[in-house]
Amino acid sequence: MKFFIDTANLAAIEEANSLGVLDGVTTNPSLMAKEGISGKENIISHYKKICEIVDGDISAEVLSTTFEEMIKEGEELAALHPNIVVKIPMIKDGVKAIKYFSQKGIRTNCTLIFSPGQALLAAKAGASYVSPFLGRLDDISTDGLHLIEEIRLIFDNYGYETEILAASIRHSMHIINCAKIGADVVTCPLQPILSLLNHPLTDNGLAQFIKDSQKMI
Ligand code: E4P
Repeated sequence: MKFFIDTANLAAIEEANSLGVLDGVTTNPSLMAKEGISGKENIISHYKKICEIVDGDISAEVLSTTFEEMIKEGEELAALHPNIVVKIPMIKDGVKAIKYFSQKGIRTNCTLIFSPGQALLAAKAGASYVSPFLGRLDDISTDGLHLIEEIRLIFDNYGYETEILAASIRHSMHIINCAKIGADVVTCPLQPILSLLNHPLTDNGLAQFIKDSQKMI
């Protein structure tokens, strides 16, 4: 399973990358705005900086919502670096844009997926990734993990090569459950990745080993 970090914060991206387990980055307009990135030049230079840090797929989201504008914006983003994946919202014009990009060999990530039907449409249009938002479903008392299971079943039934990029991950159990279901990728902030490190028996065991190692010196 691939690990992407879901942030536009360069320090967090660098820290995750230094672990040696990072396969890519996802961003969205809210994450970019949180870092104070605004204006076309700054947006472009920020994506370039992310591409310099991480050698893996970098999702860059279009800000427009009509077919023509998404095509223009997506082509500009894709031209920035071979690792850029154009992130397109799950709307009617978005599906058309995904089809257009797939015919041109430009990779896409269809975002804001909340139902199996949306994932199926995006896969049929040729999306490279679909991003089901499991945490936001959990937030409204709906089983986000069940959506990942349904999409896995549908894609396997028909051999779709579209990768399931489980998004809106809130904690490490989401990561583990996505791995059990067979999501291709999880994207989350740095903390859920780091919390995979933790177990109290590891801490206790290491403390004892350090203590006993003093006897050996
Ligand atoms: C996915 O690509 C989105 O950027 C993201 O995972 C949304 O997560 P949130 O629900 O924590 O905002």
